[in-house]
Amino acid sequence: MDKTVEKITNGLKGEIIIPSDKSLSHRAIMISSLAKGVAKIENFSAGADCHSTLNLFKNLGVEIEFKSEKSLILKSTGKLTEPKNDLNCGNSGTTMRLVSGILAGQNFNSVLYGDESLSKRPMKRVIEPLSLMGAKIDSNENKAPLKIYGQNLKGIDYNSKLASAQVKSCVLLAGLHASGKTSFTEPYVSRNHTELMLKYLGADISVENSTTTIGKSELFAKDISVCGDISSAAFFIAAGLIVPNSDFIIKNVGLNPTRTGILDVVKMMGGQVEILDKKIVSNEEVGDLRVKTSDLRACEVSGSLIPRLIDEIPVIAVMATQAEGTTIIKDAQDLRNKESDRISAVVTELRKFGADIDETPDGFIISGKKSLKGDCEVNTYHDHRLAMSMYIAGLVSEKPAKINDFQWVDISFPEFEKLIISLQ
Ligand code: S3P
Repeated sequence: MDKTVEKITNGLKGEIIIPSDKSLSHRAIMISSLAKGVAKIENFSAGADCHSTLNLFKNLGVEIEFKSEKSLILKSTGKLTEPKNDLNCGNSGTTMRLVSGILAGQNFNSVLYGDESLSKRPMKRVIEPLSLMGAKIDSNENKAPLKIYGQNLKGIDYNSKLASAQVKSCVLLAGLHASGKTSFTEPYVSRNHTELMLKYLGADISVENSTTTIGKSELFAKDISVCGDISSAAFFIAAGLIVPNSDFIIKNVGLNPTRTGILDVVKMMGGQVEILDKKIVSNEEVGDLRVKTSDLRACEVSGSLIPRLIDEIPVIAVMATQAEGTTIIKDAQDLRNKESDRISAVVTELRKFGADIDETPDGFIISGKKSLKGDCEVNTYHDHRLAMSMYIAGLVSEKPAKINDFQWVDISFPEFEKLIISLQ
C-alpha cells in the first residue's frame, strides 16, 4: 500500500493516547507463559510483531484468550509443551532472540523461523552465549531458521561486546532454567524490561552496574498493564517539534530511564517537551508528555546514549535535518542489523527529500537546517520505523512525498496515521 504525505501548516494540536509498548507486550506474553497461574494482560500491542509472539506461545501449549481488543487472559502451568509445528516469528527479531533462550533449556526440540527480513538478521549473538550454556542449536550459517535441541543448561558469566537487550534477555531467560547462577555484563546498560518483569513475577535476579545475575527461579503470574511505547511516541515528539504551530499532549508514555535517550536528545537540541504526571505501573515508570514546536540546534548522539534510543535514530535523523548546525550520530553500527540496514536506508531515502546527510560506518553526519523539498518517491525496506520516519519528513516537506509499501507500519503501530490525523 503506497501513501502520499503532505505538508501540515496549521500545526498538530490536542491529545493522543500512545499505544502499547512493543518490548513490554512481547515480554508480558513470554514471561507470564513461564509463570504459574492466571494473568490479565491489559493494553497489549496491536502490532503484528507482538501477535507473532502471542501465537507462538499458544503453539507451546499456553492458553491465551482475548477479552477485548487489547486485553487478554493468559493461563499457564509455568511449563511449555512440545509444539506440533515449526514456530513462526514473522518480522520480529525480539521474538526469535528471546524465545531461543527460553526454548534452549526445554525437554523438547523446536524450530524458529521468520520472514525474508528476519531470515537475513544475525543470530550468532544469541547462539554463541547459549552454546556456552550447553545449548544445541543448528542454524543456516548463524541465521534463521534455528533448530533448537532442548538441553539441560548450566549458568555462565557472559561478557557481551554488544549492549543489546535482546541478547541480554535471551541469556537471562535461559538462566531462569539453568543450573547455578547466570550473569550477563554489557558495555552500556540496554533496556531493562526483562529484568523488571522477571523480578515482578518473583525471579531471583539482581543488578549491579551493567551486570545482571539470575538464578533458577519459579515464577508466579501477576496482572500486567502495558504502558505506551516511547519508541512510537518518538515519531510524535519529532513531528510536534518540527511541524510549525504544534502543541499537544501524548498520554501514557513509558518513561523507563533505559528508554528515554530520545528525551535527552530533545533537551540537547533545545526542544520543548515537558513530562507531566509521572507514576509507576506494573513496575515501570509512565507519564504524559507535552510537546511544542521548537527551534532545534544540532547535537552529538553517541556512547551510552545509543542503546537508550536505538530504535529512535531514524526519526532523530529527520529531526536533525531541521536543526541548526551539524548533528553527528556515532557508535550506532548495530543499526545496520535491524529490520533493514537503517544507516544506509535513512541516508538514501532522506537524500531524496533533499536532506544534507552523509553515511559513516557507525552513523550519520547531518547538516541543517535544510528545507526538505519532497516531491519524491521513497522506499520502506520491510521496515516499520523507516516507513514512519519518512512520513514525518513528509509532514514538513514543501511538496508531497510518496511512500512505497507503507503497510510495514502495521508491524508495530497500526494506529499511527489515524493518530496523526486526529491531531490536525
Ligand atoms: C528490543 C531491543 C532492541 C530494539 C528492538 C527491541 C527489545 O534491539 O532495537 O526493537 O525488546 O529487547 P537490540 O537489543 O538488538 O539492540
